[in-house]
Amino acid sequence: NWKMGDFVQLEIARIRELVGPRALVLGACSGGVDSTVGAKLMREAIGDRFKAILIDNGFMRLNECEEVKETLEKHLGINLTVVNAGELFMSRLAGVSDPEKKRKIIGSTFIDLFEQEAIRIEKEAEHTPNSGKVEWFLQGTLYPDVIESLSFRGPSATIKTHHNVGGLPERMMNGQGLRLIEPLRLLFKDEVRAIGRQLGIHESLVNRHPFPGPGIAIRILGDCTEERVKIARQADHIFITKIKEAGLYDQISQAFAGLDTNRSVGVFGDQRVWGYIVILRAVRTKDFMSAEVFNFDHAFLGDVSRTICNQVEGVSRVVYDLTSKPPGTIELE
Ligand code: XMP
Repeated sequence: NWKMGDFVQLEIARIRELVGPRALVLGACSGGVDSTVGAKLMREAIGDRFKAILIDNGFMRLNECEEVKETLEKHLGINLTVVNAGELFMSRLAGVSDPEKKRKIIGSTFIDLFEQEAIRIEKEAEHTPNSGKVEWFLQGTLYPDVIESLSFRGPSATIKTHHNVGGLPERMMNGQGLRLIEPLRLLFKDEVRAIGRQLGIHESLVNRHPFPGPGIAIRILGDCTEERVKIARQADHIFITKIKEAGLYDQISQAFAGLDTNRSVGVFGDQRVWGYIVILRAVRTKDFMSAEVFNFDHAFLGDVSRTICNQVEGVSRVVYDLTSKPPGTIELE
């Protein structure tokens, strides 16, 4: 029964006590509100002993890595190392179409890279005033993530493997003695946003729609190829830009364009062509555990559809997903 105003001070004190005077903390930042608030709390609590990295898995939104780096460094004073790993992720995902397999491969590749980075950071910190071991790993896990990974759909089948819940794999915990630090574990999204504002994080970041760790990879129904990722990314950028231009962004909780990798026939000029189907999704929700579809005007959707078909090569059809959650999930996979 704590008051929101006390949270920041209490959490900073708790982090300092937990981490102690020498240990380093590694944190993966994605530019989302959760990891940014987590990173800002760590930075306030332990300064430069917090080491922020952004793993570019090749499935981020258009221009996202550059924008995140700029925001964290210029506005929040958090030094961010970007690890370019797009090719590694893509090669490990080649031919994989099962959503849970995709999530597992992506999750374990993230962990391989976290391990590498922990070693690099310790080496780099040697002989500096902040030399120490990387003993902690920051995660921006929220309360609904904790709940959802404990819930069941049928006997003992977890709904989804959230790679950011349930602790670190044994090898990371035992091999390197890493422990998990989760400052947002008891919070709902709206509470994280309120705390973000309190910490002086810019409104456009605080109000940013959430984006899943596996990114565009779980918005492509089927296996991921460079071409498909490029198409989904361009379509998503057009959709989100139009939403912002229409002043609708803050009325929507999460919106994106995904891709059905079946081909649908279309006509371009007097040619019949086979193209991918872009699926637009936009929902309103308070807690992301249930959600309703956002009601756009038909004229708006028509404009988005025309623009995507005209500007994104390889798309022959655009559809709008009318499924609420439940029974649908917010993501397509
Ligand atoms: P669903 O699709 O389960 O989404 O209704 C609920 C919220 O969780 C996000 N989500 C994920 N986030 N890794 C993540 O980090 C995942 O594998 C994942 N799957 C879903 C989703 O974007 C939405 O905000």
